[in-house]
Amino acid sequence: MCGIVGYIGQKDTKKFLIDGLKELEYRGYDSAGIALLGCDSIEVFKAVGKLVNLEDKLNNNSTLNIQNSTFSTGIGHTRWATHGKPTEINAHPHLGNYSFVVHNGIIENYKELKTSLQANGVEFLSQTDTEVIVHLFEKHFEQTNDSAQAFKNTIKELHGAYAILLITKSEQNKIFFAKSGSPMIIGKNSDEMFFASSDAPLIGYANEVIYLEDGDFGEVTQDNISFYNEKKQIWNKLQTSKQLAQKNGFRFFMEKEIYEQSDVASDCMLGRIKDNGTNFDEIENSFFDNIFDIKICACGTSYHAGMVGSYLIERLGKMRCSIEIASEFRYKEPLLLKNTLFVVISQSGETADTLEALKMAKNAGLKTLAVCNVDNSSITRLADVTLLTRAGIEKGVASTKAFSTQTLVLWMLALYIGTKNKALSDTLIQNELHTLRAIPKALKIESIMHEKCKRLSKRYLHGHGFFFIGRDVFYPLALEGALKLKEISYLHAEGYPAGEMKHGPIALADPELFTIALMPQNLLYDKIKSNVEELSARDSTICSISALPFELADDFIQINTTNHYMLEFFEMLVALQLLSQEISIRLGNDVDMPRNLAKSVTVE
Ligand code: G6P
Repeated sequence: MCGIVGYIGQKDTKKFLIDGLKELEYRGYDSAGIALLGCDSIEVFKAVGKLVNLEDKLNNNSTLNIQNSTFSTGIGHTRWATHGKPTEINAHPHLGNYSFVVHNGIIENYKELKTSLQANGVEFLSQTDTEVIVHLFEKHFEQTNDSAQAFKNTIKELHGAYAILLITKSEQNKIFFAKSGSPMIIGKNSDEMFFASSDAPLIGYANEVIYLEDGDFGEVTQDNISFYNEKKQIWNKLQTSKQLAQKNGFRFFMEKEIYEQSDVASDCMLGRIKDNGTNFDEIENSFFDNIFDIKICACGTSYHAGMVGSYLIERLGKMRCSIEIASEFRYKEPLLLKNTLFVVISQSGETADTLEALKMAKNAGLKTLAVCNVDNSSITRLADVTLLTRAGIEKGVASTKAFSTQTLVLWMLALYIGTKNKALSDTLIQNELHTLRAIPKALKIESIMHEKCKRLSKRYLHGHGFFFIGRDVFYPLALEGALKLKEISYLHAEGYPAGEMKHGPIALADPELFTIALMPQNLLYDKIKSNVEELSARDSTICSISALPFELADDFIQINTTNHYMLEFFEMLVALQLLSQEISIRLGNDVDMPRNLAKSVTVE
């Protein structure tokens, strides 16, 4: 996820920008840049890769070193690629003729805006959605000769999520800002104003901060803020722990990432949900011509997301779909036929087995598609098409937000295929779109749910094992729930299709065997109920996760009543993640870095 910093004042602008960007490194990035404004001159510096590359450029610039003190205004950015590759041209700040902009988020209507600006002769340098902002601003400035009005008109035209800072030679002592959907904070000290995406860069610089809310926009000078939306200025004391600030106040990165799922789900869907179906700019119209079936390949959590995808692609896409674990696939001498679309899923884009499976498919001449979180990774460079999950960096070794966004992308893909093949009724399509739009809300965590998981966790620290059971898409969810618990609690846990328990595993049932039963109200409720009754009759201890209370359950985590099983799916996912985390904490384990595991497995 991108990071933003800004400064206006008389101290060392460059130093604050670079130090600030360093504090935002934890958000993940693949390029960085700063723009400095003062005494009629604007300087911009960008570099691909780590911040040290940008620092080298700054240090080697002799003019800058002489003039440094004259730059009283500056903006900086670390970019996590979403639209366009991580190149220097695509790095922020983006420039017009006399203005610069940095942006975090996604401008959903950038294509329409770009086409109309191009029709009026504007030339674009980058492939990003962000560049439209600076050209729009300059267009409006030329019409009004008023920077504030031009900025207001620009913001009115943008749809999507954004945190924006804009500086312009036409108004040298100001920074214009706007926030909707993406985070942004203003900090102040005497005669200085700061901007940052989170608290961390401001600690040690600013005394007080305003946490901007959606819809806030305006301008700052070094000693004044004007909100165009007439917001009341409420200043807060700034916390002092940088470590805590990087985790946004959460105890662990995993916890922060669980809580981030609602926001990244919105980012993941931006521009992809249209009135009549789903859309991916990345997929050309003819891409699915002559494709008769889909093969998915992945490892770990990504494999579980792929399993959910395989159910949804057959159900909604009406296309045959199979899934395999990449390390198995590689050595089975698989039959690869040209009419198969080969899909790989990977958070990191570097997993060795998944990458090798992709190479095999490419060598066999198959069309390939990657669902991935890291642009410019080995997998995205190799696949014909990549659908980015836009989850931002995932630091916790136990994957959470990567899984939810992978699942969302596959669900949208299933709907895309089904709509394209005219296999679905309008009512069904509308119902799916409506449900997709409701997912960010389903992923918002109610404190009562977290409290419940905390309280329950103390009862599940022993025993001889856990069975997580579910049916249909709740079976891969059960696998994912069991994997989360295994990874961070080191307790034995297995995921099982609920209907399969009687074919062997039920022999293990006794009070020390814990069953976590996923019981969706909207999908096969009676079937799973019978399966759980069978386990209860053998005295297994049962924790049901459901909207409906179940009289035979020993423990119960209640989710909200909804009318679609995928809403239940995402609510249950959060419950499973939180329960695992709380058990791990009680056992005194390292939640973010569990023993024996690596975040990215680049060996087979
Ligand atoms: C490792 C990680 C897992 C991840 C798996 C696949 O085992 O610990 O969390 O699911 O690799 O990684 P990928 O980056 O390909 O999704």
